[in-house]
Order: sequence, then C-alpha cells, then structure tokens
Amino acid sequence: MIFCCRNAAILRHITATQNIMQNMPENVDIAASYIKQGKVVAFPTETVYGLGANALNPIAVARIFEIKERPYFDPLIVHIAETTQLKDLCSSIDDRVYALAEKFWPGPLTIVLPKSKAVPDIVTAGLPTVAVRMPAHDVALELIRKSECPIAAPSANKFGQLSPTCAHHVRKQLTNVDYIIDGGKTTLGIESTIVQLAPDGFTILRYGIITENELSEILPAGYGSAKDQTFAPGMMKSHYSPRKKLYIAYDVEPHLDISKAGLISYSGKLEKDAYKKIVRVAPNKDLKEYAANLFEALHSLEDDEEVNVIVAEPVDESGIGRAIMDRLKKAAYAWC
Ligand code: TXA
Ligand code: MG
Repeated sequence: MIFCCRNAAILRHITATQNIMQNMPENVDIAASYIKQGKVVAFPTETVYGLGANALNPIAVARIFEIKERPYFDPLIVHIAETTQLKDLCSSIDDRVYALAEKFWPGPLTIVLPKSKAVPDIVTAGLPTVAVRMPAHDVALELIRKSECPIAAPSANKFGQLSPTCAHHVRKQLTNVDYIIDGGKTTLGIESTIVQLAPDGFTILRYGIITENELSEILPAGYGSAKDQTFAPGMMKSHYSPRKKLYIAYDVEPHLDISKAGLISYSGKLEKDAYKKIVRVAPNKDLKEYAANLFEALHSLEDDEEVNVIVAEPVDESGIGRAIMDRLKKAAYAWC
C-alpha cells in the first residue's frame, strides 16, 4: 500500500513483511495456556485478527463480549484445526459440508451448521446453529491445537468499529485483552465468507474473498442471497465504521472540501492534488490487493490528524468487489 500526501509526494510504502515481528513459538504456548485458563487471547488469522476464548467455556466467552462491547444477540464463529472437530460441535453434517471443507479449508470460509448441545448458547446467541471455520494461518491452527479446544473468536475490534489487520489495530481499540500474539499483517484483509446451507441450495450471509461462483462449483443447486434471509444476526447496515465521516466517492457532497480529505484510491482515476492524503490500496489494480489493504487504509486515515473526512473509491459489485463494497457501504452507513 502506498501513502501519498498533497502534490503526490510519497510518504511511505508498506509491504506485507515490514510489520512482522519474530513470531516466537513460545508465544503460542503462552497463549494456549491462557486459553486453557479461560482467558482471552487476540491472534492472527489470514483474514483479520480474532479475539479468542475456549468455545466450550461460557464464562470465558462472556469476556469476549465484554471486551468488545458486543451485544449478546450477535453470535461468534468457532475456529477449529481439524475437520474431525466438527462432530463435537454439530448435530448433523451433510456431505456438502465435507465437500466445502475439502475445497476451502483451511481458508476464509465460515459454514453455519446445526449446533450440538456441547456448544454453549452464549456462543450462538441462542440460535440452533453454530458458525464454524478453519483458518489458513499456522499460528491460529497451532493455537487451536495447543489449546486442545475449539476457539470462539469474533474480529478483535470494538463492536461496530474497524476490523484489525495487525496487532497494532487490536491494541488501538482493546485495552483489556489477556494476551496478543503479533503475527504481522494479515494477508487477505477482510473477514471470511459466511455460507448457510439449505436443503435446496445455500445462502451467503456475508460476502468475502471466496465468491458465490466458487461456492456454486461445489454447491450447484439453488442459490439465495443474504436479503432472502429472515434472520441474520450481526448483518447490520452499519458496521466496520471509522471514527471519521466516510463517503463512497459516488456519494460525495458537491461542495466537500477535499483539502482535508483522505482518498482511498484503487484505479488512480479519482486522484487529485487537492486531496490531503491519497492511499493507493492496489498498486497492481487487483481487487485482492484492495481487500488486503482496505482496513489498513481506513485505520491510517482514521488516525491521521491532518484528515477529517475519508473518501473511498467504489468498485464493481461482483466477485471480490462485492465483499469490498459490502464493507464500504456499511462503513459509510453510520455517517449517512
Ligand atoms: O474472518 C473471520 O470470519 C473473522 C476471523 C477472526 O475468523 N471473524 C469474524 O467474526 O469476522 P465476527 O464475529 O466479527 O463476524 C462473524 C459474523 C457475525 O456477523 C455473526 O453475526 C455471524 O458471523 N454469525 C456467527 N454465528 C452465526 C450463526 N450461527 N448464524 C448466522 N450468523 C452467524
Ligand atoms: Mg467483526
């Protein structure tokens, strides 16, 4: 990601490796011992950082809600390291689940399944279903294995605010976490795709890097969209919001003073010298880069004292673009 200031002077260029601290194996041992004691640990995944606790310990899980200031009606994703853990968490698993797991796990896909009695109600907000995913991140997988339990983990941010893609973002928002594993910047940068299976098809509850076309290859039957869902907790219109007003570029007020605005630039077409800051999120004009750098760009402009409003460039709402626009629209909604 490249940051520019007025007159196109380049301030800094961040690479995915720059922020990576030595990830000592003992960090994971300590973190796992904390999880076993019922404490709360922030850890990296390939999507965003998670705020984790033993999914089978309701008291530990309650602390996640307290730390995040998250409403109890919004259920958590349970993270596993082996597909064999599914049978402890789910009351029934149809063949399509194994087909999805085979293709996409470990990876950024969360599957909503009928829950077993072993899963405490606080994890699922009283729903009869549990959301499960196997993250594609060595540290996360090792943490789950060493903790010897599934780990319930939402994104490690205050409820409704920007998701964290590095340990600094976690520290910025959450002060009461027992342990943070710093695994550097996450690679994918936006949260997992969430899919719910129906007898005759599937519903995407949250768009992510795994697209509906990719899912259709494994689940060829009928397809429904999130809007058809009668009850999808946590799918609010406002979410992921920076602490400064955010406009999607097509909604910018005609007389907005952009001399104090930060632009999140994808194509380069909206770049004007008058912007105070320009953050180029995709040097190769690749939507995966936009997704990988989106939250980092929002965090940097939220923190920038010279910027008082953020303008983000929209993209086509297809494929990964749909997931990017979902985040941008929800981030902008709070400021409508
Ligand atoms: O990539 C990710 O999914 C990250 C990393 C840490 O794994 N996690 C994450 O968790 O984004 P969170 O809590 O920020 O978002 C999970 C979403 C929430 O909107 C929640 O409502 C939904 O998943 N969810 C969880 N359990 C559900 C269920 N049983 N039925 C429907 N939606 C569910
Ligand atoms: Mg979240």
